[in-house]
Amino acid sequence: MTLRVIAIDGPAGAGKSTVARAVARAVSLPYLDTGAMYRGVAFAVLRDGVDPADEDRVSGIAETVDVVVEPGGVTVDGHVVTADIRGPEVTSVVSVIATYSRVRATMRAAQRAWILAHGGGVVEGRDIGTVVFPDALLKVFLTASPLVRAARRVAQVGGDVDAIAASIAERDRIDSTRQDSPLRPAEGAVTIDSSGRSVDEVVREISDAYDQVSKSGDVTRG
Ligand code: CDP
Repeated sequence: MTLRVIAIDGPAGAGKSTVARAVARAVSLPYLDTGAMYRGVAFAVLRDGVDPADEDRVSGIAETVDVVVEPGGVTVDGHVVTADIRGPEVTSVVSVIATYSRVRATMRAAQRAWILAHGGGVVEGRDIGTVVFPDALLKVFLTASPLVRAARRVAQVGGDVDAIAASIAERDRIDSTRQDSPLRPAEGAVTIDSSGRSVDEVVREISDAYDQVSKSGDVTRG
């Protein structure tokens, strides 16, 4: 049995969230932002005043906190944190806590459970095609030039372009050099460089590729 999963991985600012949401609408699948799960854990770490460098305590939080990611928003232990998890405090620590193996194992299990409960989905993250859903029907590595990525992030959240570029570069470095499930294109992934391309174009390319693969093969829901 193959679950209907489209895995979209790539670095910050490549357009993953916008593209993944639109692809999900186009192919009628639910959308899961796995970064929001890691951000939820990072939020709880800061809320509890725990040092993000304390791997044991951070891992304990990841294993006990209740992070719920649904289209309507994100809650942590029942409190709505949809906006808070996008703030600079969470952004500056999330990649550090995402290097811890116990944190990642907990997130992977939650992501697989989410997809089973929802009968498939368009799943966006850093290790979806490589580790979480290596059997996804379609795997995409979405990237863009560093300049384009920084400019997009500034357009979304404001701030100084040089500071944002530096913060993205630092997260890229941590995400792609960590031991456990580093950011890299999955085997068999289609790599798409979204620099200079419209959202519609990229969404159409991915939706068309999905239509192709879902016509062939034994595909079931859930
Ligand atoms: O939206 P943006 O691309 O800036 O980041 P995000 O998707 O919200 O993810 C935030 C951070 O969570 C990433 O920089 C990674 O450190 C971590 N992450 C991860 O390690 N694995 C995932 N599947 C998703 C996110």
